[in-house]
Amino acid sequence: MTRSSLLHQARYALRHPDRVIPHARRLTRDLWLRLQSRDHVDYYRAVMRSDTERNPDRAVGSKSREKWLKIGKAQFDYLVQHGLSPEHRMLEIGCGNLRAGRLFIDYLSPGHYYGIDISPDILFAAQQTLADYGLQDKLPRLTPVHDLRFSFLPSEHFDVIHAHSVFSHSPLHVIEECFANVGRIMKPGGWFDFTFDRTQGKEHHVLREDFYYRTETLVELAGRYGLTATFMEDWELLPYKQSKIRVRRAVR
Ligand SMILES: C[S@@+](CC[C@H](N)C(=O)[O-])C[C@H]1O[C@@H](n2cnc3c(N)ncnc32)[C@H](O)[C@@H]1O
Repeated sequence: MTRSSLLHQARYALRHPDRVIPHARRLTRDLWLRLQSRDHVDYYRAVMRSDTERNPDRAVGSKSREKWLKIGKAQFDYLVQHGLSPEHRMLEIGCGNLRAGRLFIDYLSPGHYYGIDISPDILFAAQQTLADYGLQDKLPRLTPVHDLRFSFLPSEHFDVIHAHSVFSHSPLHVIEECFANVGRIMKPGGWFDFTFDRTQGKEHHVLREDFYYRTETLVELAGRYGLTATFMEDWELLPYKQSKIRVRRAVR
């Protein structure tokens, strides 16, 4: 850690004294979980287990059910305004407890929604969401995964792939693994929307839980795997912290 980042942290602590103890608690828990984990995915799965046990809505980043409903609806409305239609086949990467997924499932034809997540615990909570919202007849698939290679999924199958607030918790090698493989499972003409925590300064992470990237880094990385990436300017008009990029298979 550099002297300037230590200084930055000290200044931040003086400005927000109420956040010091919760941060110290999170730091200790994360250190403990990291010591027991093989790799990032294993570590983040343990973070999700601990967070989900306390409160599944908070585990996916919503401090209240009201906020959970609001951010889920924002994701859904945006995708529908951008061309999602009921006959599309959709893959949601990092579907969590179906904050947006429940709306996608309700809207899409039965069997057209596929959700994957690294956390079995949040998928149990997702099953509860299906029951709570009466979505059983839509028969969505919910599957735990170890990686983002999609090796068990068919080629050129999905019209729409969606990952909200997943790459904001992912180191670059996880995003790269996704880019290297996502083109195979997308239909020609399909698209993949993901959000990320954007920085215009130095790329960094906080406790290996929250990762900040420059737009150019992700656009260039996608390009290396035959994907064309577009920064979604209209998403910026909405009152949410993260930015959004849309990726398509490049036309050859
Ligand atoms: C902040 S939550 C967002 C959940 C959901 N997308 C939403 O907006 O409600 C992030 C989710 O991504 C999952 N996740 C994190 N890294 C992942 C990865 N590499 N592959 C699949 N899921 C991942 C977490 O377990 C968690 O459920």
